[in-house]
Amino acid sequence: MTSITAPRGTRDILPGESWKWEYIINTASQTMKDFGFSEIHLPIFEHTELFSRGVGETTDIVEKEMYTFTDMGGRSITLRPEATAGVMRAAIENKLCVQGASAKLWNWGPMFRYERPQKGRYRQFYQIDAECLGIAGPYADVEVISLSIELFRRLGLKNLEVVINSVGCEKCRPVYREKLLKYFEAHKDELCETCLARMGRNPLRILDCKKESCGHVADGAPDIYDSLCDECREHFAEVRAGLERLGFTYTLNKRLVRGLDYYTKTAYEILSGDLGAQNAVAGGGRYDNLASAIGGGKIPGVGFACGVDRVMLVMEEQGCTFGKVPEISVYVAALDDNSRGVAQILTHELRMNNITAGFDTAGKSFKSQMKNASACKFACIIGPDEIANNVVAVKNLGDGSQVNVERSEVVKYIQGKIQ
Ligand code: HAM
Repeated sequence: MTSITAPRGTRDILPGESWKWEYIINTASQTMKDFGFSEIHLPIFEHTELFSRGVGETTDIVEKEMYTFTDMGGRSITLRPEATAGVMRAAIENKLCVQGASAKLWNWGPMFRYERPQKGRYRQFYQIDAECLGIAGPYADVEVISLSIELFRRLGLKNLEVVINSVGCEKCRPVYREKLLKYFEAHKDELCETCLARMGRNPLRILDCKKESCGHVADGAPDIYDSLCDECREHFAEVRAGLERLGFTYTLNKRLVRGLDYYTKTAYEILSGDLGAQNAVAGGGRYDNLASAIGGGKIPGVGFACGVDRVMLVMEEQGCTFGKVPEISVYVAALDDNSRGVAQILTHELRMNNITAGFDTAGKSFKSQMKNASACKFACIIGPDEIANNVVAVKNLGDGSQVNVERSEVVKYIQGKIQ
């Protein structure tokens, strides 16, 4: 029989890597706390409508990347392709933003998109996501952008570029859309097929087409800044001023429109110079109409999500550290079969005292137990002589020295040595 492998675009995070993921999540958790964001846990699947209405019918995500199925009750369900719509749904459903209240929420977990897998792009990938809901002013945008920059600073990422843009609002975007349409109509012959298809539905997306010929056309397209209404222009100026106040450098890119339709005003990405084609380690922006699109009235929002898989790739590439390498402090080795039970009791006692202890449950020889012990700081050796004399031979595996310690004193002795 052929063996079963993980589905294309998914992968296993094994012990050699999982402790590094834990470091990234712990760092994020602390950073979020320092910025006043509270963690929430959300369903991994939602009603399909949440994404078709929230993320947008004409986006690549909704058109061709969602894992959608009908459940036993006949409902259309989708594995979440992103977290923002779910966070907003939860805030509306649980009335977190009523009567002008705001909420700063973060979460992390797997997202699912049926994309063509390549380096840094998976079908199941992980995001750390932060959303600031209920605040319309530009200080919130700066708070979110600075949070993402601070997260990457703490993780030690270098060679990053913050790219920002404003995509306008429901008042000024239609005007810009018309200008764009007129321009692209005149350059139809130079556009790729995907962009031609986008023209009628979402011409703004042509701006971030990665194809060279479309890129040339997009470079000459009307400037969105000339079409922004006063409110959007002011908002953008204040976001930029806020970033400058905090000493951040950023690049303006009028072609940054992002692949999700809910954005209004600020859109931004953080790019890594060490990732190749899939170079965005984070993306986000403001989405003041998402709540109303999913039936929740007027709740402005701004947030970002960072791709943990990509952050991991960059950290490995740049030789970043991941905190303390996990280690077992003590290995308890039994010299013969009769000593295994006593060794097991000592191991449990050490663990009950928060000392990381290893013990052989496979019935291996003393020699191979000591081989396992070699990565530890201490080996506690128990054989017939030690049992008869009520002692444990404690070997310091760093310098090779060995002493007999009273059985009842072993925990205290080890505690004194490893602190
Ligand atoms: P997004 O740009 O689609 O935005 O995704 C955010 C980040 O998730 C990307 O910058 C990238 O690091 C990572 N990512 C996306 N797709 C993949 C993939 N297939 N494989 C690996 N990593 C991936 C959003 O999802 C928005 N919800 C962000 C947001 C939050 N906007 C406002 N609040």
